[in-house]
Amino acid sequence: MKPLLEATGIVKEFRGRGRSLDVVALDGVDISIMPGEIVGIVGESGSGKSTLSRILVGIEHATKGVVKHNDEVVASPADWRTLRLDIQYIFQDPYLSLAPHMTVGQSIGDGLEIRGEGTSAERSKRIGETLEMVGLKASDAQSYPAVFSGGQRQRISLARALILNPKLIICDEIVSGLDVSVQAQILNLLVELHRNQGVGIVFVSHDLRVVKYLCDRILVMHRGLVVETNTTENLFAHPQHEYTQHLLSCVPAGLSSSGI
Ligand SMILES: Nc1ncnc2c1ncn2[C@@H]1O[C@H](COP(=O)(O)OP(=O)(O)OP(=O)(O)O)[C@@H](O)[C@H]1O
Ligand SMILES: [Mg+2]
Repeated sequence: MKPLLEATGIVKEFRGRGRSLDVVALDGVDISIMPGEIVGIVGESGSGKSTLSRILVGIEHATKGVVKHNDEVVASPADWRTLRLDIQYIFQDPYLSLAPHMTVGQSIGDGLEIRGEGTSAERSKRIGETLEMVGLKASDAQSYPAVFSGGQRQRISLARALILNPKLIICDEIVSGLDVSVQAQILNLLVELHRNQGVGIVFVSHDLRVVKYLCDRILVMHRGLVVETNTTENLFAHPQHEYTQHLLSCVPAGLSSSGI
């Protein structure tokens, strides 16, 4: 089987403005994601997790390196548009990612409309079905984001991604701003979507307990590099890199060998 998404030798430098220095956010990163896989990316703040995720969908562009989608190099704007038919990115902050002046239905249906899929009535039906798929009501389409809680808004963000039938969703810290009980609901929803729709997930988090619960495989990032990658089981049982060992030692006692 071919990887759905592959990136090799990714370097990203941000040029410093004024007195600030240049930052090397990624220093030669490789990542490969098979169809239907759930992959975790963990690492401390500033290690490059978001930069890498954003490069994988073309929100940012690498200074050096290659992204391949279905074994084809992604280079032109048209290639990136094709990639985004398969791969959707969900932002950390649902407050920022939903336009306040658009109804939830408009936000969710936007992608379909841009692609010119279906009639207006068919799109409304799909919007309702997708809202129900993420545990909301079809009638919520008429409301504005302001009336929803953080967890509900993150469900709306998921609906907006899922309506496009992606093969992979990249979730960048999507539960970190939420209460623990709401986090668990969203994680369970992701597991269910994976089981029922076969959607692959890249789950970015600084919380090892969360990635352990969800992911088949984990990449550990440290200072712009992937320092270790292994199946979740092996990574927890036999961490190889010093930084991974450090991360595991920070998981509160009793949780390192149990679930969430
Ligand atoms: N637009 C930007 N301009 C300048 N520097 C940036 C920009 N985006 C990211 N960086 C820098 O790149 C490095 C990696 O940042 P990134 O946001 O990818 O880390 P992260 O692992 O996602 O961190 P966090 O866990 O806090 O979300 C950091 O040093 C950050 O300050
Ligand atoms: Mg980040």
